[in-house]
Amino acid sequence: MEGRIVIRGIVLAAGKGTRMKSARPKVLHDLCGRPMLWYVVRALRDAGVDEVTVVASRELEPELVGFAVRSVVQAEQLGTGHAVRIALEQMDVRVGGRLLVACGDMPLVDAAVFRAVLDALGRDGAPMALVTAHMSAESTFGRIVREGGRVRRIVEVRDAGPDELAIDEMNAGIYAFDEAALRDAVPDLRADNAQREYYLTDTVARFSERGNDVNAVVCPDPAQVLGINDRIELARARAEMNARLCAEHMRAGVTIVDPRTTYLEPELRIGADTVIYPNTSIGRLSEIGSGCTVGPNARLSNAKIADRVEVRESVVTDVTIGDGTTVGPYAHLRGGSELGASVRVGNFVEVKNSGLADRSKAAHLAYLGDASVGEDSNIGAGTITANYDGKTKHRTRIGKNVRIGSNSSLIAPVEIGDDALTGAGAVVTKDVAAGSRVVGNPARPLP
Ligand code: UD1
Ligand code: CA
Repeated sequence: MEGRIVIRGIVLAAGKGTRMKSARPKVLHDLCGRPMLWYVVRALRDAGVDEVTVVASRELEPELVGFAVRSVVQAEQLGTGHAVRIALEQMDVRVGGRLLVACGDMPLVDAAVFRAVLDALGRDGAPMALVTAHMSAESTFGRIVREGGRVRRIVEVRDAGPDELAIDEMNAGIYAFDEAALRDAVPDLRADNAQREYYLTDTVARFSERGNDVNAVVCPDPAQVLGINDRIELARARAEMNARLCAEHMRAGVTIVDPRTTYLEPELRIGADTVIYPNTSIGRLSEIGSGCTVGPNARLSNAKIADRVEVRESVVTDVTIGDGTTVGPYAHLRGGSELGASVRVGNFVEVKNSGLADRSKAAHLAYLGDASVGEDSNIGAGTITANYDGKTKHRTRIGKNVRIGSNSSLIAPVEIGDDALTGAGAVVTKDVAAGSRVVGNPARPLP
């Protein structure tokens, strides 16, 4: 790394985000399973940024631990120019360095936009490049003032006259700078404007007054750079991000019957020819194989699912499922459960921290908690593993090819041997030997 000229990123995120009306810093609000800041950092990295510094408020800064970024606290929000100045003070000087500056509340910006502004910086020795977008006159974004086609300055709405307000080219708030030029310009910024803030945007006029052209790239999709200020905009952005996530998987061969009611997160793996029915959410690093059927009305979180699995109308959290297994309708699988291949878990069955080996079945109305079920065994309707004695949880071990009769209660800790059988309504309080049959309450072996 030493001596290499890297592209560094500065993310402005110290703003209060008052319009969110939230105790939580704005950029940490969730968008499809990730904080909005996560998307900005990812897009910067995808654009080749090696090191990201986030300018944070006091409240935000301690929350940045998981982001693999550097952070600086801007205790008082004195403007975007001030924010960049304090970031630069904390960053070592890199000769020939390039800096990308972005906002933490623009999660929809594509890495291509960052790449484009970096490319524009390289052209004709410009000290600065920026992203602009054409928007309607109601926009509160800064206006791009051009003379002879060249960008000369940026005027904030609150400082603008009628002619400037009529300009329809806006400052998106994304910039690339030659590091030395920026370090030279920032100390000269003055808060002599309507908001009494240090405007980073004033660097444009400073460069152009000294004969240094500032390059602009027009973003073809203004929606990307809108930023999120309130929960209405957050919901819109979520819909857009979700649509992108669905599109990505549909392009890769997944059928999504209704993308509007299918809720995905980044970094999911879903195999080709899997069909997802409506009202389904899939989150937290789930992995789904090919040829599966998921939904309708399914909620999957950290689910690792093999091929040709069916999960209908069910909740699956922290669970592994093998090939060809069917789940639901109305099953609840959780707590590190592992289902083998061709298993069947059906209506109103809860499975917690349990293993069901290949071809075992619990088709109706059962609770399997802290249990293991061997291959080819059948759990009758109404079966309960009584795993909790009021103090501790105990395990139930059920062997291979076992028949557990309807309404059996298995009082853990208890072990049922291979090929054993319990009669309907058996209350099993003692271990059952392999091949034997027990009935009654308390269950006793049949002669
Ligand atoms: C800024 C631009 C404006 C542009 C708009 C695009 C300036 C002076 N104006 O507007 O031309 O159209 O962005 O979104 O730069 N922030 C800090 N510390 C501060 C102030 C702001 O970290 O002291 C952060 C905010 O959290 C936000 C970003 O900077 O992420 C932009 O600030 P915001 O107030 O939303 O934008 P404006 O300053 O109004
Ligand atoms: Ca502002």
